[in-house]
Amino acid sequence: MLTALTTTFVSMNIIEDLQWRYATKRYINQEVPPEKINVLLESIRLSATSLGLQPFEIYDVRSTELREKMREAAYNQPQLIEASHVFVFAVWTTVTEEMVDDYLQFVAKTRNRDIGQLEGFRKSIMGFLGNKDTQEIIKWSSNQAYIALGKAMAAAAQLRVDSTPMEGFNRQKVDELLNLQSKNLHAAVILTVGYRDVENDPIVNAQKVRKPIHQIHHII
Ligand SMILES: Cc1cc2nc3c(=O)[nH]c(=O)nc-3n(C[C@H](O)[C@H](O)[C@H](O)COP(=O)(O)O)c2cc1C
Repeated sequence: MLTALTTTFVSMNIIEDLQWRYATKRYINQEVPPEKINVLLESIRLSATSLGLQPFEIYDVRSTELREKMREAAYNQPQLIEASHVFVFAVWTTVTEEMVDDYLQFVAKTRNRDIGQLEGFRKSIMGFLGNKDTQEIIKWSSNQAYIALGKAMAAAAQLRVDSTPMEGFNRQKVDELLNLQSKNLHAAVILTVGYRDVENDPIVNAQKVRKPIHQIHHII
């Protein structure tokens, strides 16, 4: 009985959180406190990734000058300037044997295992990624970044912090602005976070547009 009640309570909260959130268009000038930002970053860090490789890094853009330039590269979307924080998910463009070896060393050390025991794992990683070209690696690493993006959005909603997932920007320009190419990284997606501007956001009270569940859920 207690378990059933607890489950209902928890799942209702999740749905309320997800109903509350929306892709915020305008933010007020208010900073999200560091303890909440840390939770968002931790939700990204703890995200599941293919083979555990975590093939992305987060660029937390604080410079007003850079943000202005990013806004220009993002069809002038005001979130880039108004949001408290702008996180760029910069994904791997390449996976070298050296990177895989570094990862395996890390796994071995963390789990107190002999590196030799991970030889089979090394072979499967190289078998899966070794022959992929740059575009395929970017696709694969971006997939991992998007999972983490979803986690951060859900965590933000739970904390009653607004957020916007953003693909509406020129990736090449953002790569140039953040000098990502030289680090073998590529801007995949952006997450802005802050607090909604109730006065000026045109969609702050808009009804959610979602298909009914029977159109997307098929039991076979
Ligand atoms: C990957 C992705 C990219 C998006 N890019 C933008 C964007 O560049 N600018 C924007 O205002 N909204 C962007 N959105 C928001 C979507 O338009 C929005 O999530 C969708 O219309 C559903 O509405 P809701 O999230 O407000 O419920 C993006 C959403 C996703 C998931």
